[in-house]
Amino acid sequence: MYVVGQEEIDAIAEVLRSGALFRYGVGGECDRFEERYARYLGCKHFALAASGSNALAAAMIGVGLGPGDEIIIPAHTYMATATSVLAVGAIPVIVDIDETITLDPAAFEAAIGPRTKAVVPVHMWGAACDMAAIMEIATRHNLIVIEDACQGVGGSYEGRKFGTIGHIGAFSFNYYKNMTSGEGGGVSVNDGAVAERVRCAIDPCHFYWHGRNDAVQPFAGNGARASELMGAMLNVQLDRLDGMIAAMRAEKKAILAGVAPLDNLGLRPAPMNSPDHDCSTQVMFTLPSAAAADQFVKIFPAVIAGKTGRHTYTEWDQVLMGAGAAHPQMNPYRMPANAECRRSYSKDMCVRSLGILNRTVMVPTNPRHSRQDIDDIIHNIGAAARIVFAGLSREEAELRSLQPVDAQKFDMKVDA
Ligand SMILES: Cc1ncc(COP(=O)(O)O)c(C=O)c1O
Repeated sequence: MYVVGQEEIDAIAEVLRSGALFRYGVGGECDRFEERYARYLGCKHFALAASGSNALAAAMIGVGLGPGDEIIIPAHTYMATATSVLAVGAIPVIVDIDETITLDPAAFEAAIGPRTKAVVPVHMWGAACDMAAIMEIATRHNLIVIEDACQGVGGSYEGRKFGTIGHIGAFSFNYYKNMTSGEGGGVSVNDGAVAERVRCAIDPCHFYWHGRNDAVQPFAGNGARASELMGAMLNVQLDRLDGMIAAMRAEKKAILAGVAPLDNLGLRPAPMNSPDHDCSTQVMFTLPSAAAADQFVKIFPAVIAGKTGRHTYTEWDQVLMGAGAAHPQMNPYRMPANAECRRSYSKDMCVRSLGILNRTVMVPTNPRHSRQDIDDIIHNIGAAARIVFAGLSREEAELRSLQPVDAQKFDMKVDA
């Protein structure tokens, strides 16, 4: 969910008028955002990038991952989590999620092999991973934890901001996220030497603009530099973030309280790892069967987690086909260094995840919802539950007028 208004338009217009669109030398918006967002997160460094995908790859390069390494990722995440692993020459090992629809710690531990070097917990749909369990397992096995917080902007796990609990974190600011600059992303990290490597991965020429640090050996990489337009918009978006998250948390709480009596009928909220601290962009329910979930969303406009296409491993064509790079010699699946990594996948390798995803219904929250909107949502969830579980007819259930689910979750605060 994101909201934009006149403030963003003014901030971008100001940068355009100044002519200072480049982040180094003339502009100050990216520097200001990096410093403010690091403080907001509670980490030492934040490095802006052109996208969340770039940020993930830069984070992996920053901590030294590459050919010969397996990186464990969940079966349910946007495919960039997997393709970023391949972009650095490593191999993604895909494991099950649990009913929180985030990485199952038991599946993670069971999948650790001799080549495993890292794990990527993904705070999917703004919901928190079980970071206590994941960190405990990772520490015991000496693994690096890269938090994919691309969908978790503004969220926390038990009071610590997503992206600051593991060794390094990656964020996206694309059109669908809680804070946006159209496209964009960045990396959060405490270790100064790793931060320098991340900045080199994002912009191999950054030392030219920022001054050379002789302690860090520069290396070649692809450019993914942020612009001042991005920095200017994000500086305004950051001011909105806490208010939006607070409103979504309050809405989630109200909906869960309002539908609690439906538990008797069989409508169960999905278990959550940090319900009072996560982004609360969705209220999730675990239905007893995929058929019940299908029927539910035909009555109440909501989303089945398993039917969001690119977010489940079965849709990651390049990965399933072993097409890990454009050039065959650069394809991690064919690199001699990866010969001992597990490199085969099948569409049914995580059937437990598919079962859970097809039973999980997500009701999006929206910081602009009024109390009346929320009451209507609670009423209609109740009506849908009575139709699905108690066999009521639509007439008997008395549905109120329904808002369609907004695919982009965009909300403009200024008059067009
Ligand atoms: C979980 C997750 N990881 C990574 C990404 C990649 O971010 P971007 O689209 O900014 O490259 C996304 C974006 O949707 C995402 O949702």
